[in-house]
Amino acid sequence: MRILQVVRGDPMEDIKNIYAIDEMPHILPVIPTIDVVVFPHMVVPLLVLDEKIIKGINAALEGDKKILLLATKPQSAGYQGPIGIQDLYTTGTIGHIMRAMTLPDNGIKILAQGIMRASVQEIVSSNEMLSVNITPLPFDMMPDSTAEIDIKIRNIIGLTEKINALGKNFGPDFQMIISQINDPERIVDFLLSHLNITIDQSQTLLEKASIISLLDDITEMLQAEIEVSKVQEKVRVNARESINKSQREYYLREQLKAIQKELGEESESDIEDLKEKIAKINFSDEASQEIKRQVRRLEKTSADSLEAVVIRNHLEWLLALPWDVLTTENRDLLHAKKVLDEDHFGLNDVKERILDYLSVRVLKTEGKTPILCLAGPPGVGKTSLGRSIARSLNRNFFRIALGGMHDESEIRGHRRTYVGALPGRLIQAMRKVQSLNPLIIIDELDKLGNSGRGDPASALLEVLDPEQNNQFYDNYLGVHFDLSKVMFITTANDVNNIPGPLRDRLDIIQLSGYTREEKTEIAHRYLIPKAVQSSGLDTHNIIIPEPVINQVIHAYTREAGVRELERMVHKLCSKFARSLIETQKGVDFSVDNLVAHLGPQRFTLDQYIFTNKIGVTNGLAWTACGGEILQVEAVLMKGTGKFMLTGQLGEVMKESAQAAMTYARAHMDFFGIDSKSFTEFDLHIHLPAGAIPKDGPSAGVTLLTSILSALTGRAINGRFAMTGELNLQGNVLPIGGLKEKILAAKQHGLDHVILPKQNQKDMVNMEEVVKGIEILWADNAREVLDWVLLPKA
Ligand SMILES: Nc1ncnc2c1ncn2[C@@H]1O[C@H](COP(=O)(O)OP(=O)(O)O)[C@@H](O)[C@H]1O
Ligand SMILES: [Mg+2]
Repeated sequence: MRILQVVRGDPMEDIKNIYAIDEMPHILPVIPTIDVVVFPHMVVPLLVLDEKIIKGINAALEGDKKILLLATKPQSAGYQGPIGIQDLYTTGTIGHIMRAMTLPDNGIKILAQGIMRASVQEIVSSNEMLSVNITPLPFDMMPDSTAEIDIKIRNIIGLTEKINALGKNFGPDFQMIISQINDPERIVDFLLSHLNITIDQSQTLLEKASIISLLDDITEMLQAEIEVSKVQEKVRVNARESINKSQREYYLREQLKAIQKELGEESESDIEDLKEKIAKINFSDEASQEIKRQVRRLEKTSADSLEAVVIRNHLEWLLALPWDVLTTENRDLLHAKKVLDEDHFGLNDVKERILDYLSVRVLKTEGKTPILCLAGPPGVGKTSLGRSIARSLNRNFFRIALGGMHDESEIRGHRRTYVGALPGRLIQAMRKVQSLNPLIIIDELDKLGNSGRGDPASALLEVLDPEQNNQFYDNYLGVHFDLSKVMFITTANDVNNIPGPLRDRLDIIQLSGYTREEKTEIAHRYLIPKAVQSSGLDTHNIIIPEPVINQVIHAYTREAGVRELERMVHKLCSKFARSLIETQKGVDFSVDNLVAHLGPQRFTLDQYIFTNKIGVTNGLAWTACGGEILQVEAVLMKGTGKFMLTGQLGEVMKESAQAAMTYARAHMDFFGIDSKSFTEFDLHIHLPAGAIPKDGPSAGVTLLTSILSALTGRAINGRFAMTGELNLQGNVLPIGGLKEKILAAKQHGLDHVILPKQNQKDMVNMEEVVKGIEILWADNAREVLDWVLLPKA
C-alpha cells in the first residue's frame, strides 16, 4: 500500500452539515494511511493492496461508505508486510469513500474524504477484516471563546499571507478559499491539511480537542515556517536558475504521462465517448472552444484529482444545456384565450390585458417589450396564470421563486473554484426545461432580498433586458448563453417593494381579491374538480354542496385569494377518501357536520367590531395580503395635554394623526368640545395589533373620528367601516386598494362603508363587490362625523 498524492479538501462542501454526529455508525472498517494523517474535509486518494483492508472497503461500499482512516506509526514506515492494528494510531478520522476503482491486479483505488475526528473504542474484528468500534470526537468549543478564536484565526491568516509573500505557496486559491470559510472548525482543519509537518506532529494535532490550543500550535508552526522561509529565500535568490523552463516542463509532462499510464487512468474510451457526445450538439462558437479547452485539460489531469471532478461537472453542465432546441410556439390568440378561460374563472380584464400583451409580441418579435408583472394578494392565481400562458403558447414552463434569494451569485452562478459550485438559477432552469424558448416565471419579485453580496436586482435586470440577455454570462458556465428567446413573466404581492429600476421595466397587471360569490364559483368549477381528481376520487360520487362551500369560505378562511379554500377542499376530499377506505362509504357533507371534518370554526364574526363604543373606529387598511379591518382606539384621561401615539405607526401615519388632532382643536367650538380637554387631559391613540408596523395616509378620517369621539364622549356607530386621507381643511382625499378594502369590510360582516367621494370614478365592474353593502361617499370630514357619531347618551 502506498500513498499516491494528497488532494486538498474542498472547503465549500460542508460535510458536517451532511453528516451529523449522532448519525455516525459505531462500527467501521479501518483503512490505514501511510505517510499522511487525514484531517476532516481533506480528500485523499489511496491505493490498497492488502486483502483484509480491501474486504473492509468492500463492506463499506455495500453500506454507507463510511470508514475509519488511521495513520500508521512512523516506525512501521518502510515495512512491507501486512499492517496490523498495533501499527496504527488509535485516533483518526471518519471518512467517506467518494470513488472506488478496482485495479486489474486485485488492488483497489479509492478517493476518500475526511468527515470527523474519532477514536477507537475497541477492536471488533481483526481476522477477516479490520473493524473497530469508535467514538466521534467533536471539538469542544466554549461559547464565550469565539472572540478569542476569531482573533487567533485572523492572526494565522496574516501569517499565511506573510508566507505567501515569501514565495512559499500553500497551493492555488489558498488565500481566497480561507477568506471564504466562516466556521472556525473548518478553518482549523483546512489549515492543518496544508501544514508542512511530520506524521507524528500531525497526529498530535489531530488528537487535540481544544480548538484554542490547536490554534496556538498552528501559530507557532507558521512562525517557525516563516523563519525557515526567510533563510531559504536568501539561498534561492543567490542560486542560479540552472534548468531552463522548457526543459523543466518537458520533464514534468513526461513524468505526468508515466504516472497516468501507471495508474491505468482516464481510459481513452471515456474521453472518446465524451467527444462523440460533443460532436452531436450544435454549440455556440464560444462554447465549442471552451469545451475543447476543457477536454484537453481533462486529458492531462489525473482522474482521481479534485480538478478532474470539477472539469467533468463543468463539461456535464455545458453538454446538458439546450443549445439548439426550440419548441414551436403557438401564436394563435384564439387558442390562447381558450386556454386562459379553461384554466381560470373570471379575471376578465386581466385576461384581456394578457391577450393585448401577447398580440404585441406576435407583431413585434424583436427588441424591447416590457415584461409582464402580475401583481396582487396571495392565492388569486398569479402563478397559475403564468402556467396557463405557457400552456397556451406551447412553451415549456419553469418557475423561479425569488423568496429568500439574496445573493447575486444565485443568479449569475458561482465561480468554478470549488467542487460544490453551481451555475445560477437561470442556467439551472434552462437545463431543466430543455428548450431555448421556455416561459420562465420569476415568482415573487418583491421578495428579492439583498445580503450585500453583489446586487441581485441589477443582475435580474440584465436577465430581463432583451438587449443584454442574448449574451447572458454565468460565472460557473464561463461562456455566454442566449436567453433572448425566453419569455419572462414576473409576479409580486406588492409592487412597491420591487426595486425601482426593475419596476420601471414592468408592465404591471393588478389582480385583486375575489368576492364570496366568485370564490364559490371558483371552488365549484375548478378547485373541487381538481382536488377530486388529485385524490383519486373521480369515479366516486363525491358531492360538496354549495352551502358547505359557503360555510368553508365564511368560517374557515379569511383571505383575498383562494389558497386556503383550496386546502380546505383538499381536506374534505381526503376525509371522503378515508371514509371510503374504512367504511366503504363516502361522506355526505353538510353545513352541520362540517365541524366534524374541518375542526372548530376558525373565524366567527367579531362581535366587538359591531358594538358602538366611544373612541373606537373601524378603519380599513390595505396590505400585500389583501384588505384588513384596522381599528383605531382613542382614550381621553386626566393629564396635562399630552398626545400619545402607539402601535408601531410610520411617519406618514403619525403625521396624519397630528393633522387630525389639529383639525379637532381648530373646530372645537363647532363640535362642542371644552377647551380644557386640550390642557387638563391626555389623549392616547393606539392601533392594535401593536406588533405590526402600519403606515400610510389613508387612516386620516378614521383617526379623526376616534379623536373626536373621545373628546366629545359621543360613541361611534359600530356598523360602519371607513377609509380616506384627510387634509387640514377637512377634505377627504382619495385612497388606493378600493376593492380589497370593501371586500374586507364585507368579510367581517360590516354593512356601511365610508369612502372618499373622489374614488367614485374607480368603481368600474364593481357591482358584485358592493352587493349587500351600503357605500357612503364622503367629501368632507363633517359629513363623516355626522354619519357615525351617535348622539351623547
Ligand atoms: N380565477 C381562478 N380560477 C381558477 N382557479 C384559480 C383562480 N384563481 C386562483 N386559482 C387557483 O388557486 C390556487 C392558488 O393560485 P396561485 O396561482 O398559487 O396564486 P398566487 O400565485 O397569486 O399566489 C391555484 O390552484 C389556482 O389554480
Ligand atoms: Mg404564486
